[in-house]
Amino acid sequence: MEPLSVPPLPLPRVFRPERAVPSDAVRPTRAEINLAHLRHNLRVLRRAAGSAEVWAVLKADGYGHGAKAVARTLERAGAAGLCVALLEEAIELREAGIRAPILVMGGYFGRAWDAVIAHQLTPVIHDITQIEALAEAVRFQGMQGCHAHLKVDTGMARLGFPLGELSRAAQKLRSHPEVVVTGLMTHLACADSGDPESVTDQLARFTEASEVLRRGGIRPRVFHAANSAALLTAPASHLDMVRPGVGIFGVSPCAGVGADLRPVMRVRSEVIAVRDIEKGASVGYGASWRAKRPSRIATVPMGYADGLGRALSNRGNLLIRGKRAPVVGVVSMDMTMVDVTELPGAQIGDECVILGTQKGVLGTGAIGAVELAESLGTIPWEVLTSVSRRVPRFYREPC
Ligand SMILES: Cc1ncc(COP(=O)(O)O)c(C=O)c1O
Repeated sequence: MEPLSVPPLPLPRVFRPERAVPSDAVRPTRAEINLAHLRHNLRVLRRAAGSAEVWAVLKADGYGHGAKAVARTLERAGAAGLCVALLEEAIELREAGIRAPILVMGGYFGRAWDAVIAHQLTPVIHDITQIEALAEAVRFQGMQGCHAHLKVDTGMARLGFPLGELSRAAQKLRSHPEVVVTGLMTHLACADSGDPESVTDQLARFTEASEVLRRGGIRPRVFHAANSAALLTAPASHLDMVRPGVGIFGVSPCAGVGADLRPVMRVRSEVIAVRDIEKGASVGYGASWRAKRPSRIATVPMGYADGLGRALSNRGNLLIRGKRAPVVGVVSMDMTMVDVTELPGAQIGDECVILGTQKGVLGTGAIGAVELAESLGTIPWEVLTSVSRRVPRFYREPC
C-alpha cells in the first residue's frame, strides 16, 4: 500500500510571536480582564494619593493582565505615567501607541541607550557608568539631553546609589549635562509587611540623599518612593508621585487595606470530562489521592503550565456551580481534577473558576488572589504574573 502522504500546510512565518489571541483560543481556559475595574482602581488610588501623581506599574506584561490593553485603558483614564521593569516592555508600549511618560525601572540598558532616547523613555540610573554611557548616546544622536530618574538605595539593597556615592554621582552629572535628572526615587522594603518604622527610616535616608544631591548642584523636580502598600498605609511616602502595581489590579497589598479595590483578573475554564470512580480508586499521577467513598471527579483543562500551580495539588479549591470543589490528585501540566461528588448536577461544560467570583445554581463563591496565594504558599504578585501566555486574555467592558 502507498504510504499516506500529507501535503505540507502553507505555514505563515511568525516574526514576532505573540501570546495566544482570544480568536485563536479553542480551550475554554481564559483570563477575563475587567477594564472597568481597572479604571475604578485608578480612581481609588488617585484619591488616596492626594496631590501626588499616579504612575501605574505595568511590568511583567502588566502583572499578567496584558500591558498594552492595560496601558491604553489607564492612559485614557488619566494615569500621569507608567512604569515598567524592562526596556523591551517600554518599547512594546511605545509600539502600541502609548504616549504617556514611561519610567524604565529595571536599571539594565546594556548598550541600548539609543533605543531609550529614540522611544522617549525615562531610564532609571543607578550606577555612575550609566551617566557617561547615556550622555555619550545623547551626544551621538545630536540631542540636547535625556531625562532620567536617579535611584537611591535607602535600605532595600537591590538597586540604587548608596548614600555614600551620591556626591560623586552629582559631580559626574554636573560634568555630563546631557543627563537631565528630573526625578529621584527609592524603593521601600517593608511597606507591605506592616513595619512603619522601616518606612520612616528609609524616607529619612531618602531626604538625606536629596540634600546631598542638592548640595552637589542636582535638583530633581519629582521625588517618589511609594508602592501600593505605602500609598495605602503611609501618607508621608506619597511625595510627588506614587508607583502602585498590585493595587491597580485590584489586589490588596497588605492586610486591612484596599477593601474598595476591585479585582481586575478572573481566571475561568470549563469542565471537559466527568467520571464516577469507586471507593479506593486513585486520581492522577502518583495516585496521591484515593477516594474514601464512591466519588465523581471532574477534569478541568488548566494545569501548572497555565499558572495553576502544582502546590494546589490535593489542597486548593476551584468554583463550580457557585460552590467550592476540592482539587484531588496532583495538578498536571495541562489538567487538574476536582471532586464534585457534593455538587449535584455537575457536568461537562460547567464553568469552573480558578480566580475570581462565580454565581451558580448552588450559590455564590469567590477565590481571591490573596487566598490563592496562601494556598500556593506564595504572594498575590506571583499568582497574577504566573498566569501563563497560553491562557488568552479576554478584555471586558461591563457596563
Ligand atoms: C521599584 C518598584 N516600584 C513600585 C512597584 C510596585 O509595587 P506594588 O505592586 O507592591 O504596588 C514595584 C514592584 O515590585 C517596584 O519594583
